[in-house]
Amino acid sequence: MPKHIILDTDPGIDDSLAILLALASPEVVLDGISTIHGNASTAQVTTNALAILEFANASHVPVYRGCELPLVQPSLLAPETHGGNGLGYAKLSAPQSRPQVKHGSDYLIESIMSSPNEITLVAIGPLTNIAMAIRKEPRIVQNVKEVFIMGGAIQHTGNTTALAEFNTYVDPHAAHIVFHSGMPMILTPLDVTYECIFLKEDLDRLLKIDSPITKFIADATRFYMEFHDEYQKIDGCVINDPMTLALTFMPEICDYQNLVVDVDISTGVGLGNTFADFYNYEKKQPNMKVALGVRPRMFMELFLERMEKLAKSLL
Ligand code: RIB
Ligand code: CA
Repeated sequence: MPKHIILDTDPGIDDSLAILLALASPEVVLDGISTIHGNASTAQVTTNALAILEFANASHVPVYRGCELPLVQPSLLAPETHGGNGLGYAKLSAPQSRPQVKHGSDYLIESIMSSPNEITLVAIGPLTNIAMAIRKEPRIVQNVKEVFIMGGAIQHTGNTTALAEFNTYVDPHAAHIVFHSGMPMILTPLDVTYECIFLKEDLDRLLKIDSPITKFIADATRFYMEFHDEYQKIDGCVINDPMTLALTFMPEICDYQNLVVDVDISTGVGLGNTFADFYNYEKKQPNMKVALGVRPRMFMELFLERMEKLAKSLL
């Protein structure tokens, strides 16, 4: 039986690859998308989500516009990482479809409460929508099947500050609400995503197929690779979000530890820093499963194989 997933997302270059991977994977059914500020404004990422779905012949998937700003912090976007339009050098036609009327956080509540223990929530952007949903309807904590979260850096350096990963740094207060909610969470931190670099030769393999999909991936990731080279001297780009999505149906890509994880919401240099109490000094119950070991080529092979299949289907 395929898993019913909702993507809470800020497309975003790697987010767009996660959407494509979801569409190309029979193990999951993409029930809907809620959009969130982050890589670009909520308006822009909502347009991008609609455009990507139409581009991939999946405009049947509903899109719900989410929160415009973090709960407490000022807005922080990432044009240097994802480009002004959020999709790097990729250009998609303006979408014909429009977002649903319902707010993204209300969509999360309605979906989870109407299908208890059925919905797998995949959070690959700042956690504002999910925090709002928890505050509006706390019972989603007991009714959601599981929550896969791309975010945090446990024993890895930050990618936005020296200590903090982007999604938790943009809205640390939302992350704090979600981390302390009791939801069944599986965290995919930078510790494992930075082991999975999408290389030029991986892109060259995809470009053997002359398809709008492979051209989109090339145009989007070329910008992303330039960012990684300039800012982090990485040859390639870190595709955090499709890796998080892949764990929903291929958990064996990673090894996990049940840990007590928290996020710093103090106003100092550690804001947004995520950390695990590996020795459990405070004798707390672990609040999440954390992916800390990874088989990089198992993930990359899956991703490439699914993108090749999708590209051939949309020639
Ligand atoms: O830190 C990486 C995460 O922040 C990814 O989800 C990326 O898309 C951005 O949202
Ligand atoms: Ca993202």
